[in-house]
Amino acid sequence: MIEVKGLVKDYGALRAVDGVSFTVRRGDILGFLGPNGAGKSTTMKVITGFLRPTAGCALVGGHDVTAEPVAVKRLVGYLPENAPAYPEMTVEEFLGFVAETRGFRTAAQKQPRLDRVIGLCHLGPVRRQSIETLSKGYKQRVGLAQALLHDPPVLVLDEPTDGLDPNQKHEVRNLIKQMAAEKTVILSTHILEEVEAICTRMIIISRGKVVVDDTPEGLRARHAGARLDEIFRTLTQTDQ
Ligand SMILES: Nc1ncnc2c1ncn2[C@@H]1O[C@H](COP(=O)(O)OP(=O)(O)OP(=O)(O)O)[C@@H](O)[C@H]1O
Ligand SMILES: [Mg+2]
Repeated sequence: MIEVKGLVKDYGALRAVDGVSFTVRRGDILGFLGPNGAGKSTTMKVITGFLRPTAGCALVGGHDVTAEPVAVKRLVGYLPENAPAYPEMTVEEFLGFVAETRGFRTAAQKQPRLDRVIGLCHLGPVRRQSIETLSKGYKQRVGLAQALLHDPPVLVLDEPTDGLDPNQKHEVRNLIKQMAAEKTVILSTHILEEVEAICTRMIIISRGKVVVDDTPEGLRARHAGARLDEIFRTLTQTDQ
């Protein structure tokens, strides 16, 4: 469902992503890990069609992200790393606006979708509150809600549980797990227990390069059963 081949992304003189290749199949939950600045968000922005690669390519559902960004955006729900813009809109207005940009224009098309994601992300109590007045965790839930709005087959979630309280972390992980059966999911995280809890595969990226592409169990087995955080430190400590 997702195919990334020899992806390179430069920001001026800085090579943020340096020849990254991997594939993700339907039903996979791929955990994307790496130290701060490793290139995770940049890779996700390219896969979702928001940044053009410097070299290499990414295909989503067979569509090239550079040649067919609109087709790709239709297939992908994307939670970017920063909270949603439009601070003056209420939660409902913002989600309604996103629904319209997704082509759901009539109330009959929009309302069931809004109600569904508001329910899934537990936004009921704040649906009429402006985004700027929400706490960090609630803003994060709004970001997740807009990613789920068109029920896309591919989810690209940049640190989806960042800022959530422990109950919501648990809820969001369960939600991702439930949805994953019929979807393809890439999520980035700094929480290694999150990878163990929900990811079927993991990629560790360090200085723009893939250093691990394995299952969490496979990786631990290759490192004599060490804990993932120890393995992570060993493989990425040159970044510090
Ligand atoms: N728009 C930009 N212009 C210039 N440099 C950028 C830009 N965006 C990211 N970078 C740089 O590219 C590198 C990779 O950044 P990226 O955001 O992809 O890392 P990340 O793995 O998501 O890190 P984090 O764990 O902190 O979210 C970093 O050195 C960052 O400073
Ligand atoms: Mg990031």
